[in-house]
Formats: sequence, structure tokens, C-alpha cells
Amino acid sequence: MTSGQATLNRIQPVQTVARFVDAARLWQRHVETGRIGATPKGGVNRQALSPEDARARAQLTTWARARGFGVFTDAIGNLFVRREGTDKAARPVLTGSHLDTQPTGGRYDGAYGVLAGLEVLEALEDGGIRTKRSIELVAWTNEEGSRFQPGAMGSAVFAGHNDLQKMLAVTDRAGVMLKDALAQTLSAVPATPRSALGFPVDGYIEAHIEQGPVLEATGNTIGVVTMIQGARRFTIDIVGEEAHAGTTPRKVRKDALSAAVKIVTALEDLMRDDADIVRFTVGRFEVYPGSPNTVPGRVHFTIDFRHPEAKVVRELGDRVATVAKANAKGCDVTVTDISYVAPCVFAKPVVDLVRDTAEALGLRHMDMPSGAGHDAMHMNALCPTGMIFVPCLRGVSHNESESATSDDLAAGCRVLADALVALADR
Ligand code: GLV
Ligand code: MN
Ligand code: MN
Repeated sequence: MTSGQATLNRIQPVQTVARFVDAARLWQRHVETGRIGATPKGGVNRQALSPEDARARAQLTTWARARGFGVFTDAIGNLFVRREGTDKAARPVLTGSHLDTQPTGGRYDGAYGVLAGLEVLEALEDGGIRTKRSIELVAWTNEEGSRFQPGAMGSAVFAGHNDLQKMLAVTDRAGVMLKDALAQTLSAVPATPRSALGFPVDGYIEAHIEQGPVLEATGNTIGVVTMIQGARRFTIDIVGEEAHAGTTPRKVRKDALSAAVKIVTALEDLMRDDADIVRFTVGRFEVYPGSPNTVPGRVHFTIDFRHPEAKVVRELGDRVATVAKANAKGCDVTVTDISYVAPCVFAKPVVDLVRDTAEALGLRHMDMPSGAGHDAMHMNALCPTGMIFVPCLRGVSHNESESATSDDLAAGCRVLADALVALADR
């Protein structure tokens, strides 16, 4: 997937608003947002469309309204905060990320991109700076995809990559339909409905913690993100036969767990590469009925795998069902293709702008790919798109101990601020 607007010319960097970025305010917003869904271990559990997600959205709305910004929502619950430009009819420039977290998530994955975007809008207010295009902050719905699958749902629906009606019908593990969780969330957040789902956007930049160890290890403050690797997700359901653990001989068992173990091992072999580029994860594994003395009759598990090359993602993914069925040990195996997102290469003018802006601000920077998925991968098909990474401690993420410094968060926000103004004024 390459950017929808490869013809864009080089964009002149500006130094306009970065000096109005308030590091202490940005940090305080992280502290306050991190309290919503806080876990005893210092992390955050704020899963998509949960009461905690609703509270974080409501807080963002309060902060935005206090500065006079407009707040809107769309049919999948993406939340937009708009600071008007002088040319109200011009396509806006967007920035944002997500407020939902993993069940054992941290304070920065997602929240940083949203709070940095808000800080940019506030810095523009503080500096009395008008931009030609409006700048909109967006908190995308369900980026993580841990409660409802697939992830990056709000941005995918916005970009037309996922069907709204199909997504509204998705259920979580408790059987709650996304449509109902969304209605409940929206009722807790007073925002003006916006009729259009998806609208023309002139450019998009997302700030995020790196979620890997490279910036820290190399002493860089800013990652200039060039691309995001591709990802494919599946669920596998295995049905065997429940039987008595003490009486049923091995020969006649249809043990769904035993089949699942064999399948996972075979898939690990399929995905193993000497260079260690393929990322293969079974992150959820459920065994039923889960009784110590009953042979498991059913297993459900998830597969997430990623690679920078589209061909590899496609070809490996196309072999998952065959490998799973070949290792079924007499059980019934159903493989469901949940999502495929192709590798995306960001628009060169935006990548150059992020790099030039970091350079102008005197920040140490490096070009790098993203191993994690982000909403930016869907926006990249709609408009010139880029991303800014900042370091996180030891590269740890999707973990309650996720940590980042106020200085680094503020530095990334300064780059975001000036880069957005350059886009908005061109
Ligand atoms: C997003 O969190 C991802 O799974 O890459
Ligand atoms: Mn994220
Ligand atoms: Mn994440």
C-alpha cells in the first residue's frame, strides 16, 4: 500500500508553533489519562468501547471544549476535535492515534498520539497562530483489536478498508455486539454527530512511542517512520470430542488441545526464518471445557504474523489453513481469515518533512520502519501520511511497565506541531 498522493512536492519545514508546546501540560494530561483504567501494576486496562474508554473520550471532549474546539463523532465512533483554519472549506490536516489499550497495556501506546495532537491545538491557541487549513485531532476507535477484532478498526472503516455494518456486528468474548458497546460509549460522550463517514483529508501525521528498542539504543530522540510492515490475522477453532480423562484410551480420543499444540508447532516451523524477520504470535489460546479430568473438546486460538514484504505475508498466510488441517489429529479445524493489512510505505514528502522538522529543531533523529501496526497505515491510502516515533524505556510496550520521558514526549510533540503547520499552510 503506497500513499494516495505520491505527486506531492517537497514541503518546506516551518518553525512556528514548537516553542508554544507546553511539556508540563502534555505530561499532566498523560498522568490524568493514565488514571482512567489504571491497573495496580502501574499500567492501563482501557479496552475499546469499555466504560473506561468512554471516560477517556469524555475527558478529551472536556479539554477540547474548554479551548473552544469543535467535537464530532462518526458512525464507528471515531472522535474528532477541530481547530478551524482560515479557509474553512479547505480539506483539513489530521493527526491522532487511539485511547483504547491492551488489557495489560501502558500509558503511552495510543494515548501519546492523541494527547500530543491536543497539545498542538492548544499550543496554536496559546501562540495565537492561525493556519490556512483546519487541523483536526482524531481518537480512532478500537486500534488495539484485543476486545473486538480486527484492530485499527475505526481508521479502516474511515478509509473504506472495512465495512461499517460488518464491524458493527462483531462480538467480543462475552457476546457483546460492537454496535451496542458503541451506542453505550457514545451516550457517555456528548459529541456532535457527523453524517459523513470518511471525508477528504489533506494529510495525516501520527505521533507514537516506538514500541521497540532502537531509538534508545542509538541515542536518537526522533524516529522518522518510513513504512509499516504488513500483518495478517487468523482465528483457528478446533472441535474434538469431550471424554473422560481416566477411561478414554489415546487411540479413540479426539483431543482438541493435543491437535492445537501440534498445529501451533507446525505453524511455528512454517514461520521460522533464519534472519528472524517474520513475527509470529499466538496471543490467545482458549481450551474448553477447561476441566482437569475431561479431554478438551474445543480449542480457540488467534494467530498474528507480520513481515515487511507483501509477497511473504500473502504466501505464508495462504498456507496457514493447509498446515492447520494437516495436523488436525482427527478433529475438525476451521480457519478464519480475520484481517490482512499490506505493508505501507509513507509519502516521501511527509517523511522528508518530519526529518527536516526534527533537524530544524536540533533533535537527533533516524529513519526507521514500524514493526507495530498503526491507524496511519489506513490513512496512507487516503492522503499523504507519515509518523513520528519517540523512545520508550527498553522498547517495552503492550506491557504495564511501558514508560517514556516527558522530555522525549515533548520533543516528538514539537516535531508534530511544526510539521502539521507546514502541511496545513501549504
Ligand atoms: C497494534 O497495537 C499492533 O498490534 O501492532
Ligand atoms: Mn498504538
Ligand atoms: Mn498497541
